Amino acid sequence: MHKISSGLICSLTLLGLQTFATAAVADGKTLHNANCIQCHAQMKGADGSAIYTRTDRRVQDMPGLSKQVTRCTNSLGLAWTEQQHQDVVDYLNSSFYKFNIKP
Ligand code: HEC
Repeated sequence: MHKISSGLICSLTLLGLQTFATAAVADGKTLHNANCIQCHAQMKGADGSAIYTRTDRRVQDMPGLSKQVTRCTNSLGLAWTEQQHQDVVDYLNSSFYKFNIKP
């Protein structure tokens, strides 16, 4: 077993920063599509994304979005890291909710 040094993690993190925003959203999409669509799609049809765009949607701001993602991951028993959680929040926000994103 190799231990990854904290120095290596640091440089990887720095390298990653440049592509962070897009990479995180792509990861979030992958995680979301693998874990979240099926159930929403059963409820809403198609790819289930109507649950995020319906007029009476529950989520009204970023803290609310984060909370709802936690609620859904908890009920699924998924042990996501803070990063995975954030990636999915970012994906949902950039694709559907668009809080604090200028058109
Ligand atoms: C077992 C079924 C199920 C799965 C799987 C599921 N959800 Fe949900 N989700 C729901 C239900 C039910 C609601 C709607 C609750 C309501 O309308 O009051 C919901 C609503 C949401 C909403 C809020 C939509 C709105 O109204 O703004 C978000 C965000 C969300 N889910 C994220 C996720 C994420 C992220 C995952 C994957 C980790 C996930 N869900 C997986 C059942 C599920």
